[in-house]
Amino acid sequence: MTDSWTLTETPCAFNRRLGTDALFTLGNGYMGCRGFFEEEQEGVEGLGGIYMAGVFGKGALKAWKGMHRELVNTPNVFWLSIKVDGESVLVRPRRISGYLRTLDMRGGTMARSFTWKGSRGARIRLEFERFVSAANLHLAGQRLRITPLDGPARIEVAAGIDASVRQHNMETTLPLPIQPGRQHLETRFSRDGMIETRVATLPRGVRIAEGQEVRMLGPKGPVAGKPVAFPGRAAERFVFTCPRNATARMSKLVHFFTSRDGNAMALLRKSMKKGMDYDSLLSAHRRAWASRWKMADIEIEGAPDDQRALRFNLFQLMQACPEHDSRVSLGARGLSGEMHEGSVFWDNEIFKLPFFTFTRPNATRSMLRFRHRTLPEARRHARDLWFEGAMYAWKSGDDGVEETEMGVGAYYAIHIVADIAYALRQYWEATGDDDFMARYGAEILVETARFWQSRIYYDPIRKTHNILAVRGPNEYDVIVNNNCYTNMMARENIRYALEAMVLMKKRYPAAWRRLSVRLKLDAREPAAWRRSARGLLICRDRKGGLYLEDDMYLHRAPFDMKRGKTDGRRVIDGNLPYEAMAHYQITKQSDVITMMNLLPWMFTTGQMRAAYAFYEPKTVHDSSLSYAPHAVMAARLGMKREAYRYFRDCAYLDIADIQLNTISGLHFANLGGTWQAVIQGFAGLYQHGNILRLAPHLPRAWKALRFRVCYRGAILRVEMRGHKTAVTLERPGAEPSVLMIGGRRIRLSRKGESATA
Ligand code: BGC
Repeated sequence: MTDSWTLTETPCAFNRRLGTDALFTLGNGYMGCRGFFEEEQEGVEGLGGIYMAGVFGKGALKAWKGMHRELVNTPNVFWLSIKVDGESVLVRPRRISGYLRTLDMRGGTMARSFTWKGSRGARIRLEFERFVSAANLHLAGQRLRITPLDGPARIEVAAGIDASVRQHNMETTLPLPIQPGRQHLETRFSRDGMIETRVATLPRGVRIAEGQEVRMLGPKGPVAGKPVAFPGRAAERFVFTCPRNATARMSKLVHFFTSRDGNAMALLRKSMKKGMDYDSLLSAHRRAWASRWKMADIEIEGAPDDQRALRFNLFQLMQACPEHDSRVSLGARGLSGEMHEGSVFWDNEIFKLPFFTFTRPNATRSMLRFRHRTLPEARRHARDLWFEGAMYAWKSGDDGVEETEMGVGAYYAIHIVADIAYALRQYWEATGDDDFMARYGAEILVETARFWQSRIYYDPIRKTHNILAVRGPNEYDVIVNNNCYTNMMARENIRYALEAMVLMKKRYPAAWRRLSVRLKLDAREPAAWRRSARGLLICRDRKGGLYLEDDMYLHRAPFDMKRGKTDGRRVIDGNLPYEAMAHYQITKQSDVITMMNLLPWMFTTGQMRAAYAFYEPKTVHDSSLSYAPHAVMAARLGMKREAYRYFRDCAYLDIADIQLNTISGLHFANLGGTWQAVIQGFAGLYQHGNILRLAPHLPRAWKALRFRVCYRGAILRVEMRGHKTAVTLERPGAEPSVLMIGGRRIRLSRKGESATA
């Protein structure tokens, strides 16, 4: 590792070389490209690893309802075959020296270099570079430099787009070889450096049109290429002789479109006519990254490794976000791998959106629009299950259809409905975007409140309102009643709907009238929601200090951690079957603690301490979603050492492959969770009552923390040093910014104005 903007890999981990590909992913929200080796590799040919937002094929599993779908591994647009004196350049032990792979997070590029030794001993230096444009969604660039070090060499380079790729079938970081899986693509056309493929496993599968422009500059000037005919591949071959120590340079631009954009081939042809050049495209790309980082970077003083790890998490989060397209959202593994099939879950709203809401609100707006677009499907889903309003799918691709393999997730894990409402309300408060609320938000809130109303059951014997048969964030308790997280969040959901109604009636009366007519909203409905929300059972222990995960948690048998959690593997991968979990007090991932982090104003410090002390030892962290909430809570409670330990679990989760499955994609909820650990934990940020609150709890290893926050149209620069916080209003919003820092109320209204607390 060199500086805090660069992630490096050296030497080459031959047996696990695909394991780290996910770390070196590049993308722009439209396309995500793993850091695979461009040159063909024996045994793993055709794997590539390029995904496009919204490009799904028929999956291998049986879905609970509907059809199982998966994100398609699309053509490898960076495919290369390199031969030196007739011998293929392959990465092999003893053939490679000086190997280095780097991810430049500041500029959004990946580079790789090594010296290869042929069987007769001649050495060749190879240097690769690539990027997926942040300035133009449909372009990417690749560069290759080849230098013979020991004598002249006959070089043969074929550069192409390879559509013979297959799915990965990689679940864990196993040693090679890895068996390539299903193939989704059928080639329809391939000529003049252009290729059109179609996802043939779906009846109306997306078409992908891609083209390349390749330039080879040999030692004596430009080298003309010849098209290579090969089924499923559009490629061009360059053959030339290169003297010792002279460098041949290849640069290639790739253009890509899909039928989701319109007529993909026509768009491709038009784009290829423009005649772009690599260097100016790369400069525009770097400028786009500089502007992203200006708002999103977090500076840590005194801990360069933490700084690098934190930037890695933010970098990956930003580059996968499909901000340009509200027909899709951000999947659990982004566009960096195939696990979870590219689907979106609750953790999108609860773990990833906060980062965007406070640094790039338009991205959140787009992902919430996605939830509005899929509202009709959520309504249908609710009706199918005999409920009302809208029930969002636990796992959805691009059309909101429930994609979960088993009913367990889909029917019971309904907290996702309230999680969406929470994120929407958080976005609205943080931005003051009434227009969004009027056009989309209010409708989502009314329909989700209706869902809860139909899902809440009034028990005439106990005289309580209950939510029965659910699965909370602790997914080891398969079916419970009155999961505290679900009930609290459902109650909030109803409150937000009532609040939106007030706003709408006051500020948008005509739009509200239209909406109520369209939704056939009965005037008595809101009062009924209010009654249900008020009566909803929130389980606590006898003394009232401990919030209970559900109404049986306290009565379950203690779990023998020493026996059940012996190493880093998940408890369900050990010898205790899943079905047995409900017998024990075992928490798969943070549940009550996450809820308290989301609604901190509702709990006393004593209640939070009690929850942390009770649940933390019972939590096995068998999901990457567990560390961040613990980091946030521990920091807010002033438990610096624990908070820092949990922060490191988040920040290094993928870099150190803590969950042993980074090979199948980065853990996107945890990427967002890392931001939460720092900003909501160490910096103590949360909003309540239109006031932004901050309270520093920096770990001892950090001297200072600097970051920016977007809040109600304003941009605030925050610096925390020890217990001191300085806030500067870099860009004023429409109203003065009101903050509460460690109990002190501050108001900033002029550009450049600052306050210290
Ligand atoms: C977690 C879920 C999460 C899913 C996708 C699972 O491991 O337990 O809560 O939604 O991953 O990120």
